[in-house]
Order: sequence, then C-alpha cells, then structure tokens
Amino acid sequence: MPAADPTHTVHPTPVTHTGAHGSLPGGEGRKVFFVSFGCQMNVLDAELVLGDLDRNGYGRTDKMKDADVVLINTCSIREHAEDKVWSLLGRARQVKETRPKMKIGVMGCMAQRVKDEIVHRAPHVDLVLGTSSFRSAVQDLDDLFDGGGRIVRTSNRPDPVFLPDADRNVTVRPDAYRAFVTIMRGCNHSCTYCIVPHTRGKEVSRPLPEILDEVKRLVDDGAREVTFLGQNINTYGQDLHPKRKHTGEICTLLEHAAEVEGLDRIRFLTSNPFDMTEDMMRRFGAVEKVMPWLHIPAQSGSDEVLRRMQRTYTVAQYHEVVGWARTHIPGVEITSDFIVGFSGETDEDFEGTKRLVEDIGFLQTYVFKYSVRPKTLSARRLPDDVPEDVKKRRNVELLGVQDALATKRNQGLIGETVRILVEGISKSDDTRISGRDRCNRIVHAPGDASMSGRMADVQIAEAGAHSFIGDLVRVEGDGERWPDA
Ligand code: 5AD
Ligand code: SF4
Repeated sequence: MPAADPTHTVHPTPVTHTGAHGSLPGGEGRKVFFVSFGCQMNVLDAELVLGDLDRNGYGRTDKMKDADVVLINTCSIREHAEDKVWSLLGRARQVKETRPKMKIGVMGCMAQRVKDEIVHRAPHVDLVLGTSSFRSAVQDLDDLFDGGGRIVRTSNRPDPVFLPDADRNVTVRPDAYRAFVTIMRGCNHSCTYCIVPHTRGKEVSRPLPEILDEVKRLVDDGAREVTFLGQNINTYGQDLHPKRKHTGEICTLLEHAAEVEGLDRIRFLTSNPFDMTEDMMRRFGAVEKVMPWLHIPAQSGSDEVLRRMQRTYTVAQYHEVVGWARTHIPGVEITSDFIVGFSGETDEDFEGTKRLVEDIGFLQTYVFKYSVRPKTLSARRLPDDVPEDVKKRRNVELLGVQDALATKRNQGLIGETVRILVEGISKSDDTRISGRDRCNRIVHAPGDASMSGRMADVQIAEAGAHSFIGDLVRVEGDGERWPDA
C-alpha cells in the first residue's frame, strides 16, 4: 500500500483535521477533538462541519484528554475501518469518565449504517449524525451542552434544514491552494460488494450554479486547484434532468468551472467505467484546465468476477474506456482500484487481474482485500470463500506487479521537466518541497516553504513506484501567474 495519497478515494488512515489552511484554531470556546476516516468525500464532510464549528466559536485540540467534544467522522467501506472507530470510541469512553461533561459524536457512514449498534454498544455517545444530516452538528452540540439528551439523526434523505453542502465556510480547509468540492452524493449502482448505496443513498446532484459559486468563493480564498467529488461523476446532473440520458452534464460543469478566473487546475473523482462515453472523454480532453488524470476503478480483470460484482462491464470494455481516454486526453495517466479475493475468485481470475494491470500500465493502483459488508448483495448471496491468507498473498502480489511496472514506466520520465503546483514542505524531508504535476504524479524537489502555492518546473532525476525526485528549474515569482501547460 503506498503512503496515504490525498487524492485516493479511500485511505483508511485517520486524518486529524486542521483549521484554516492547516493551522489549529485556538478559538476561545469549547475544544473539539476531531478525527476523520475514509474517502475524500469524508474529508470534505469533515471540513464542512469544522467550518461550522469555527464560525460558532468552537476551538480545536489534537489531544482527546483536553477535549470538550470528541467528534468522529466514520467510514464503513471495509470492516477494518469500522474496527478503528470502535476502538477510538473505547478510548473516548475512558476519557469521558474523567471529563463527564464531554460530548461524544459519531457522524458519517458508520453512523448511518449501525446507528442502533452505536446507541446500544456505546451509551456514552451523545450524538449520532448520518451521511445526510451532519450539518446540524453545531446546533445539536449546543443543545447537548444546554442539557438536552442524546440526538440521533440518520434519515438518508438530505435534511431540508441542514442541507449537507449549503453555505460552506470556505476558509476551513487543510490546504490553502487546493480544495475539494462535492458535486453529487450517493450512488445509483448496485455493485454487489459495496456498502455505499446503503450508507449514502441514491444520487443527488448539486445544481451547477451552486457549485460554480462555491468554486469562485474558494478561488477568492486562494485555491488554484479544485477536485470535484462524487461516487460516480459520470452521471452528474442526470437526476436534475431525468429525461435526458448521458447528458454529459459533468463536461458542462467542467467547461464552466474552467472559465473561473484564477482557477488553474481542475480534477475530478471518481470516473467509473460504466456511464462513460467517448464523447465525454473528448470534452474532458478539450478543456486545458482539466488535468490529464482519471481515477477509473477496474476492481477485477476477470469477466466472471466482474459479473458477480455486477460491475456491468467486461475487461474488453474497460480497455475500450481507457482507449478513449488515451485517444482524447493527451498524456493522460490512469489510476485504479482493485478488490482481491472476491467471492469465487480463482487463481485464473486473479491472473486476469494481473494481466489487466500489466496491459494498462496504471500510474497507481489501490488494492483491497474483499471485506464482506452486511446487507450488501454479495453478503446475502455469495460466499466469502477465498481464505484470508490467499487474499493477503494476492494483495501483495498485485501490488508487486504494479510497483515493478510503475517503477519502469516512471523511469521513462527521467530527464523530462514537469510543472507542479507546490503544496508545501515534503513530509519526509524538510529540505524539499512536494507537489503534483498535471497527471497527479507526486514530485519532490529542493526548496522551502516560501514556494508553497506557486507553480514550479522540476526536471525529474529519480523515479520510484509512487513518486519522483527532481531538480528545481524555476519557480513562479511574486505576482507572476504562469499558465499551467
Ligand atoms: N471490500 C473491499 N474493498 C472494497 N471497496 C469497496 N467495497 C469494498 C469491500 N466490500 C473498494 C473498491 C472501491 C474502493 C473505494 O474501495 O475497490 O473502488
Ligand atoms: Fe466514503 Fe464509502 Fe467510506 Fe462512506 S463507506 S466514507 S462513502 S468510502
């Protein structure tokens, strides 16, 4: 598993959220200890709530023992993600014994999925907020501190009063120059292994003008790059225009967003192989500000397994979609997700998956061992019959194939110069800066914090499976604005 990648759809590592542009706000009010697990959408949901807390005078702490509020934003995608939350709730119970006024809240997918279990197993939890109702957090905490009893809100329809994406406090985000924007929530597919349709419900798109307004506000606050988020962005807007199929509304959104002055880069997640058309790829490729990078989860390289997963495409169709991307988006890089050890996966099926990874040549793949999620179609109908040690072995083997291939491909870039948007000082070496190039490659180069938020040209000198190291050629100067090309 590569180091936590901030653009990855699901990274199981907890994120302790910081405040406005990375700082921990010292608000005078009650202190909140906030931890978020899960995908990018969860990271953004955390920002939405933290923005509300900030506005209302709540401060933040990174120590649970000093907290007045412990709020955990949860993920249900695999059992492991839920286990971590149970153990954190155990710790919170101990702290609450010494701080009886402390309030404990659970929000997100797990709050949605197992609200009854939380209420029974964790009576010390005061607040349970599902995936459509978490924006009531501030009001609910205020009520709890006023002496009110436990609050549980888990309707899976967007709360008409506390709309999930309304009136975002754009100043609260971990990164000054990059921002995430939710364009739709939920998923209308029924991949048999997936809990998301249960936790996040049916697709609901945000109206285009509302999204554009948020983008403008983010750009005014210093964002140069936005990443649009949705479980299946290909069908963005179809619920807003139900009579038209394949409206390509996502392309219209990208085209409009590209007109926002001051915005340099646009990315989006997740592009599934289904609901994608060649024309959409053509339109992605035609917008200069849309970065040549697509995250297209394949899940398996076996038609039989894909059928049992109800992915509704074949391996050949997956190749076709990647072919369209490579034809119409110059220099595009593709990343992907795979599940190993799904029900009935044979050695031959797994060989097919390795072959697909070799044939496509992904920039990065994320590999997960199949984890049965209660009430999903596969949990009800298909046996979890691949032994754990086989899942583990296939996981390691597939990552090995990917890493060897990626290293080789990446070394082809040595000597080339790429343009990155500098994110800040590298986490692993404070003499270096890091950033991403247009294709979302992680690039490190010598530099200092003053370069954050600037474009820089870096000549690649070393290439590994997951990142690159290079020499700084030049950096955007004060008041300069380089075109990103
Ligand atoms: N078990 C393992 N991995 C899963 N994913 C989704 N559901 C499961 C599951 N039940 C993976 C898929 C998806 C990514 C977000 O998580 O690969 O693309
Ligand atoms: Fe995100 Fe899915 Fe996890 Fe929910 S279950 S947090 S939608 S990855």
